[in-house]
This record gives sequence, structure tokens and C-alpha cells, in this order.
Amino acid sequence: MDKIIIEGGNTRLQGEVTIEGAKNAVLPLLAATILPVEGKTVLKNVPILSDVFTMNHVVRGLNIAVDFDEALNQVTVDATGAILDTAPYEYVSQMRASIVVLGPILARNGHAKVSMPGGCTIGSRPIDLHLKGLEAMGASIHQEGGDISATAEKLKGAHFYMDFPSVGATQNLMMAATLAEGTTVLENVAREPEIVDLANLLNKMGARVSGAGTETLTIRGVAELHGAEHNVVQDRIEAGTFMVAAAMTSGNVLIKDAVWEHNRPLISKLREMGVDVREEEAGIRVKSDISKLKPVTVKTLPHPGFPTDMQAQFTALMAVVKGESTMIETVFENRFQHLEEMRRMGLHSEILRDTAMIHGGQRLQGAQVMSTDLRASAALILTGLVAQGQTKVGQLSHLDRGYYQFHEKLAQLGADIRRESED
Ligand code: EPU
Repeated sequence: MDKIIIEGGNTRLQGEVTIEGAKNAVLPLLAATILPVEGKTVLKNVPILSDVFTMNHVVRGLNIAVDFDEALNQVTVDATGAILDTAPYEYVSQMRASIVVLGPILARNGHAKVSMPGGCTIGSRPIDLHLKGLEAMGASIHQEGGDISATAEKLKGAHFYMDFPSVGATQNLMMAATLAEGTTVLENVAREPEIVDLANLLNKMGARVSGAGTETLTIRGVAELHGAEHNVVQDRIEAGTFMVAAAMTSGNVLIKDAVWEHNRPLISKLREMGVDVREEEAGIRVKSDISKLKPVTVKTLPHPGFPTDMQAQFTALMAVVKGESTMIETVFENRFQHLEEMRRMGLHSEILRDTAMIHGGQRLQGAQVMSTDLRASAALILTGLVAQGQTKVGQLSHLDRGYYQFHEKLAQLGADIRRESED
């Protein structure tokens, strides 16, 4: 089992870091490559992550040719010809995000069978909105033996209001609606940059999607889609993670190609704390002096609110800023497990339902800790940079799902960090 080992306490991150294409954009983009009956789809700026390999396997399992040229960060998919309608359990069960293949397979084949996503540590994560939306478009849904089966000879345009702006449900329904008969209007949809990226690819394929990035999506169904070429949007969460890392370590880091607009809520909270965040031509520069930062209150919300995917990393920053900070997590019901691990490093915090009070500025000490999910793994590594002595972070399979060469990038910025295999 691999571990990341950090000698912490004296790190000041300095220099430049490059970020990858967004994991949470590329997974639905790969699902969209199922839709075209003709032509190849080429995705560029694809990050080399275990979740991407898993999604490639899911698509391949439908009898679709998928080629990942890692040297070019490019995936080429050819979905011409007959495709299967059952997504392979072996891979679907490894990754919740694979539920977004349900809409595209159903739209293309008239029938789709996908395993129910399994348990998840950060919350219960139901998929009721995905299924209700497909039903509104005329699909009949059956759940049996752990599988969801959806059938609709031809999906029909519909008006559907989402009780909550779910990212995955918005993506699933948007893709399904591209090939439906008539117009679909989806209200109270997710507005994340990854939604806009998906709409852009679909429109390049010949779909007619408008309103992406707003609360209402209108999709005019078309008879068929064709292959297209697309650059995956930059990973705002990876960028945000390095912004927080720079802030925590009194660093001075340029995060190259980071998109200011996508990180607005994070930037505004960093600035409220007293971190110097500036837009430069090459990206976003973060400079900080930890002794001058003030505690803040943060509440996670769907975009354009503060992203839940930055919550764990931000609590690591709160831990080193002197005073009482408050983090309110409204998107997932069980996403504070990293705080329990950080307690092993000397963090003082109290959790009451969706609210964590962080008593920052106490002395943190290196310890052995376990990642409990993807963003928790990053948060623990960042805490290791500032804790005195050695920190060992285990369960790195979580980290590998969403961060490419994380420790190498931190080492390039001056961190004393390495990865070792330990039995
Ligand atoms: N929800 C429902 N019913 C549904 C769908 C969602 O109640 O049918 C609830 C969930 O239980 C949750 C909330 O809505 O409480 C948000 O879920 P959402 O569907 O928006 O999330 P997701 O699509 O499953 C994506 C990201 C997550 C990110 C969330 C929120 C991908 C592959 N995953 O998940 O990313 O946290 O949106 O922004 O895009 C991560 O990268 O670490 C990660 C977990």
C-alpha cells in the first residue's frame, strides 16, 4: 500500500504549477461520446486519472472503440455502429459518476441497463432526480437485482423542474434530451462550469442546447449527432487546491491557466481572510502571510456558491489561521470525516450536524492518517505540509482518482514530500 510521506513545518510553496483538464468535466464528456452514430469524437486535455480509465472501460464495455493516448492527453472514441445497452457492472460499481451513461445509452438505443451506484462515504447520494427526469421524458424505469433498467422507444421532450440543482442529474437529462422528440426544458439545473463544457461538446456534435450556465436549460431534440473535437475545461478544484496550499504555507504560487471566473467564490473567501489573490495573464497568483490571516465563515452551495469539493482543503487552511472559523456543508451530509483524521494531528474542532467550528492556529503535529475520500486526501496532505514533523497519508486510491502527480507538483513548489510503497 502506497503512502505519501511529508516532512512538514517549514514549507513555503514558491513557483509555478500547471493544472490538468477537469476530472468532473471529462467523465460526463466521455459519457456524451456514446451519443454520435457517426464520426469520431476527440477529447483533448484529458487528465491521466484512475476515474478516467474507469469511465473509458465503461464506454468500451458498450462495444465502443476508445483509445487513450496518454502522451497527448487525448481520448478518441468511435461509437459508430451498433452499441450494447448494458453498462458493465465491474466498472460501473467502481465509480458513482458512471450513472451518467444511463441517459445517453437510453437516448441512443431505446433501452439501457446500469447498476445502481453503491454506497458512498460523503453522503447517501440518491439518484431519484435522474430517474424522475427520464420518466418525465417518457421512459419507464425498473429497478431489479441491483440494476436500473430504462426503456423508451423514443424519448419525448418534457418540462422538468429539479428539486435540487444536481450536477449528475443535469448532465444525464441534458444528454438524453439531445435525441428526444421535441423540446425539453430543465429548470433549477446545475450551473457548474462542467455543465457548460458538456453543453459545448454536445452543440459541436450537432445538438441544440441553450442556457448552459443559467438556471434553465432548453434542449431542442435532433435526429442524430456526429463526432466532434473538444478541449476539456481546466480543473477548477485542482487549481483551488493549489491556491489553498499556497495560502496555508505563506507561499507565493502562480497557478497557470487557472480560470478566475470559475474560482470566484473561493477567491472571495481567500481575500476575506487576507490572502493576496491576483489575476495575471498566465493564471492566478496567490501570495500569503499566514500570521496576518483572519478566520472566516464559509457555506458550501451549488455553483456559483462555494464548492463542496473545496470544503475539506479549506478546513485545512482554517486550521492554521488563528481564531475560530466556521464551515457549513450543505451539499453532502457526511463530508467532515477528514476533520476526525486531522484531530490526530492536533486540530481542535467541533462538528454539530452540518456545521464545523475550527479552532485555528493551534500547534499541529505530523501523524499517520488515512484518506477517507478524494478531497479529504488532498486536505490531509496539505495539513501535513504545515504540521511539525512527519505525516504519512494512506489510502491513496482516493487521491489517484482526481489528482495527477499531486506530490510531484508540490515537491516542485518546494515541499519535502515523497511517495513510498509500504506493506
Ligand atoms: N441528489 C439527490 N438526488 C439526485 C441527485 C443528487 O438528492 O438524484 C443530492 C445528493 O445526494 C447530494 C446533492 O444532491 O446531496 C449533490 O449531488 P450532485 O448530483 O450535484 O452531485 P454528483 O453529480 O453526484 C458531482 C461531482 C462531485 C461534487 C458534486 C457537487 C462529478 C463526477 N462529481 O457529483 O465531485 O461533489 O457534483 O458539486 O462531477 C469530487 O470531485 O470530489 C466529487 C465528489
